[in-house]
Parts: sequence; structure tokens; C-alpha cells
Amino acid sequence: MQLKDKVAVVTGAARGLGRAYAEALAAEGAAVVAADLNDCADTVAAVEAAGGRAIATTVDVSDSASCEAMADLAADALGGIDILINNAALYAGLKGARFEQLDEAQWDRVMQVNIKGPWLPSRAVVGHMRAGGDGGSIINIASLAAVFGLPYGLDYVASKAAVIGMTRGMARELGPDHIRVNAVAPSAVITEGTEEFFGEKFEKAKSVIASNQLIPRNLETEDLTGTIVYLASDASRFVTGQTHMVDGGSWFL
Ligand SMILES: NC(=O)c1ccc[n+]([C@@H]2O[C@H](COP(=O)([O-])OP(=O)(O)OC[C@H]3O[C@@H](n4cnc5c(N)ncnc54)[C@H](O)[C@@H]3O)[C@@H](O)[C@H]2O)c1
Repeated sequence: MQLKDKVAVVTGAARGLGRAYAEALAAEGAAVVAADLNDCADTVAAVEAAGGRAIATTVDVSDSASCEAMADLAADALGGIDILINNAALYAGLKGARFEQLDEAQWDRVMQVNIKGPWLPSRAVVGHMRAGGDGGSIINIASLAAVFGLPYGLDYVASKAAVIGMTRGMARELGPDHIRVNAVAPSAVITEGTEEFFGEKFEKAKSVIASNQLIPRNLETEDLTGTIVYLASDASRFVTGQTHMVDGGSWFL
């Protein structure tokens, strides 16, 4: 158990990758706060069915007061915060278009959620991490889309590029507190969100993506959870400010 006695907060944990991260961290012994705009009861039930410990809360990661309430609940109910996974983002359901035609209201909302979404929860938890005296690990979820420059999704691309920059800046500011900040940049994972994102082009996208990777198959959720557990745990205790591509070798940073 690599995360015994640790407390982890996972945003966007109601479904998809966030739910998988919550389950993986709990399987390694962490007590997990599963947080989302939507109900995380299914995530908590899955963690408990596997013998783990989790609580659910609602959060809007683009709202400061909501993030503070999430962090306070985690610390009060579980005794502190050691790990934060900034996973919640607008991804599924985004309407792709050439950059000249992107909807401006969607652009603003993407920036609101995908950039403030890692900042505000991080800001809310760092006081609790410092108080614990043991440092902490913040993991921001970026995307291959940012380093590749995925066409027809400039809002999403720009927001995830910002996540990589924020990871570097936060790592510099939080290093003296022994709080590590890293990013994980997956290629397209076969989740319900990806199916919604690509819509009718899903099957074509899957085969194009796989054929551009050194490991020529699609990324499954389980391919990512090991990297998340590694970055959350002391196994990565001297690693900070890095972006970890989990993309079957599509891109070398
Ligand atoms: N699935 C992929 O292929 C892929 C690839 C690269 C990066 N990512 C990133 O991984 C993360 C998760 O991806 P996914 O496929 O599971 O996405 P998803 O769209 O299926 O799930 C996102 C979750 O975030 C929640 N959420 C959205 N806005 C929120 C808000 N304001 N406050 C709180 N919760 C909010 C949603 O309710 C949802 O449960 C995202 O950051 C996404 O950009 C995904």
C-alpha cells in the first residue's frame, strides 16, 4: 500500500478518469474525497466495495468558495490533505471548430473551468498541506492536445497548455514547502468523455491516434492510474514541475 494514511482529493471524480483515479488511490490505501459538480455516490460505492475509504462532495472548481468548502470538508472529515488531483475540466461535449469559428462563450467557459479549475482547488488545499508538515503532491491533468496542438479545439488546447505552465510556476513556489506539483498529459483515452468529444468521428480518431503512437493501441484508463499513483506517492518524492506524457510514445518532451 503506497498511500497508506494519506488523504487525496480528486476533482471531476463522478465518472471517467477522475473516478478511475479515485479508485486507484483508494486501492493504495488513501482515504479519498471524490468531488464533482455531479453526484459522486457511484465512485464512493465502488471504492467501498473494493474495501477502501471515500466520501463524496459537490464542488465547482471554477468557484473559489466552493473549492474552499471542499478543502475544509476533506481536512475536517479525514484529518488533512496530502494529495490533490486537479482532474475536472470541460472536455466531453465541447464543440470543435476552426479557430476563427470557435464559439466565444465556450472559449470563456473553457478558460474559466480548465484554468481556474486547477488554480482554485490548489489554493484551497495548500494551507492544509503546509499544516500537515509533510508536504504534499498536486497533480494537474493536462493533455497531449496541448503539446501536439490539436486542430479544431484551440480553446481546449490553450487551456491545457496553461495547465503545463501553471504546473511549472506552482512547483517553483511550493518547492520550499515540500509540496510537489506535476502534470500528466494523456493522449486520448477510451472514456465516455472521449466518445462524446469526437462524436461520429470516434472510431476514425481511435485508429489515427493509435497509428501515430510507438505503442500502436489506444490508451486505456488503467494505463494512466499507475502514473497517478507514482506521482502521488513517495516513489516520486524528488520529482516536481514535470509534465509526464502518457501517450504510448506520441510525443517526446
Ligand atoms: N479522456 C481523454 O481522452 C483525455 C485525454 C487527455 C486529457 N484528459 C483530461 O482528463 C480529465 C478527465 O477526462 P474525462 O475523459 O474523464 O472527462 P469527462 O468529461 O468524462 O469528466 C469530467 C468530469 O469533470 C466534471 N466537471 C466538469 N466541470 C466541473 C466543474 N466546474 N467543477 C467540478 N467538476 C466538473 C464533470 O462533471 C465530469 O464528471 C480532463 O481534465 C480532461 O481534459 C482526458
